[in-house]
Amino acid sequence: MGPQNHPSPSEAGQAAQRLAVGVAVEISGISKVFQRGQIQTQALARVDLGVKPGEFVAVVGPSGCGKSTLLKIIAGLLGPSEGKIEIAGKLIAGPHTDLGIVFQSPVLLDWRNVLDNVLVQIDLRGGDTAAYGDRARALLAKVGLAGFENRMPRELSGGMRQRAAIVRALIHEPPLLMMDEPFGALDALTREQMRIDLEKLWLDRGQTTFFITHGISEAVALADRVVVMTPRPGRIERIIEIDLPRPRHKAVVSSQRFTDYCNEITECFMRHGVIQY
Ligand SMILES: Nc1ncnc2c1ncn2[C@@H]1O[C@H](COP(=O)(O)OP(=O)(O)OP(=O)(O)O)[C@@H](O)[C@H]1O
Ligand SMILES: [Mg+2]
Repeated sequence: MGPQNHPSPSEAGQAAQRLAVGVAVEISGISKVFQRGQIQTQALARVDLGVKPGEFVAVVGPSGCGKSTLLKIIAGLLGPSEGKIEIAGKLIAGPHTDLGIVFQSPVLLDWRNVLDNVLVQIDLRGGDTAAYGDRARALLAKVGLAGFENRMPRELSGGMRQRAAIVRALIHEPPLLMMDEPFGALDALTREQMRIDLEKLWLDRGQTTFFITHGISEAVALADRVVVMTPRPGRIERIIEIDLPRPRHKAVVSSQRFTDYCNEITECFMRHGVIQY
């Protein structure tokens, strides 16, 4: 249930402005075994997941359970040992460019200012950067970077750099946004603000979003569905539908239902000994 299908009353009026660019992602029977000499590591075991166009899916799981591996397989950067990925009905057989990726640490070009770092995405695709300038500025403003367009990466805080990296992943209007623990290195306050800003962007754009995190409450706060993975080899342990209104303002994230969802996920991890009290 993406933003286009599930508007809260406060969003209903804005629905017409949403781009709703999202695509369906079909993950079927994905397994991955890494082979290094004699040593085999099974990272993923038979992962099946259907993601609807515009849906926001968060993946939580213990360290080493194969989350980043799954993201790379979906992006076509890594081949699966078994199974297949289909995006918008097309089989993925290698790297594809119709997506935006945000890695854990923002990778910005030191010698380009913020605006030019965002526009590099257009440059690389051979597009006309001048045509994207206004959109880049509008998106930067949306994540609190108005006035910083001409600053160099070294003049920004870690959180600001990560915001610029998120805008860069969105500028070409990708139908699929993949984020691998994008807020991992941030302090708690910046992280909360980024979460709020990301939800706003997603509500506007409706891109299918795949968000990896170690944060249980972050997953519940952002997602339509939370996928809980087992320790390695990573399997899907549970999929929890998060039926909370959007935007997920303070009243929502401090509600009893929100806490109940978080507890449900914590209990999954306790069953596997991932969290021990
Ligand atoms: N290129 C590789 N070659 C060999 N083994 C690998 C490779 N990439 C990942 N692995 C192994 O696959 C398993 C899953 O790794 P992955 O990076 O997907 O975990 P993760 O769930 O993203 O962990 P984290 O939460 O710590 O980022 C790990 O045991 C890792 O050592
Ligand atoms: Mg990882």
